[in-house]
Amino acid sequence: MRKKIVAGNWKMNKNQPETRDLLEALKSRIKQAKAEVIVAPPFTNLALAVEMLKDSPIQVAAQNLHFEPKGAYTGEISADMLLSLGVKTVIIGHSERRSYFHETDAILSKKADAALKNDMTIIFCFGEELKDRKEGRHFDVVSAQIKNGLFHLESSAWPQIILAYEPVWAIGTGETATTEQAQEMHAFIRKTLLQKYDATLAQSIRILYGGSVKADNAGKLFSQPDIDGGLIGGAALNAQDFTQIVESA
Ligand code: PGA
Repeated sequence: MRKKIVAGNWKMNKNQPETRDLLEALKSRIKQAKAEVIVAPPFTNLALAVEMLKDSPIQVAAQNLHFEPKGAYTGEISADMLLSLGVKTVIIGHSERRSYFHETDAILSKKADAALKNDMTIIFCFGEELKDRKEGRHFDVVSAQIKNGLFHLESSAWPQIILAYEPVWAIGTGETATTEQAQEMHAFIRKTLLQKYDATLAQSIRILYGGSVKADNAGKLFSQPDIDGGLIGGAALNAQDFTQIVESA
């Protein structure tokens, strides 16, 4: 049985006092959970989050990292820096990184390598744009993103990988993929893993759905056979909404 995951991607939201408030509220609401619960605040609040959540089941993830171990990369953060704070999970390949910061499959594949080399867990995101879906290319786009980003890896690396399917047209738009569209894509992703690796691996990988997941649609999405939880943006910024989503997993 795959354990579900509910991960909150805070994006560029919450300064330090606001982070403290939200974490306090989450800590008091989420004392135990059936699902794995993860929050990903901005870099500036990771140390605070690790400290505040040390006796809580809520884990802390980073939203990004650089693939080089160190050096002259102004403004960047390495895997080792995250690990030294106690952050062992990182989101890679979010569509905002891909589009606004021009992160290509080749860059993301190097980021995945850097994280895995440091024994981190990665939440690897991908998803098609609206025009891809309209033109019927969504399966091809998604399989190319997964193959180019991750298929150079041996199967032994995969226990540290969580996949997150996030159709770009559903992120922050209020438009969710229907449960049928999401389930269909998740089943396709598992089939793609099966073709490259084996059934045990394909069945064990957790595949999250992301894109306008809210308290009122989470339960239905998470009950689909191939959907193992969600990556939550907007609704992760509100303790009550996020807790309700965690409870529906
Ligand atoms: P959203 O964002 O829930 O606000 O649509 C999801 C994400 O970008 O991970």
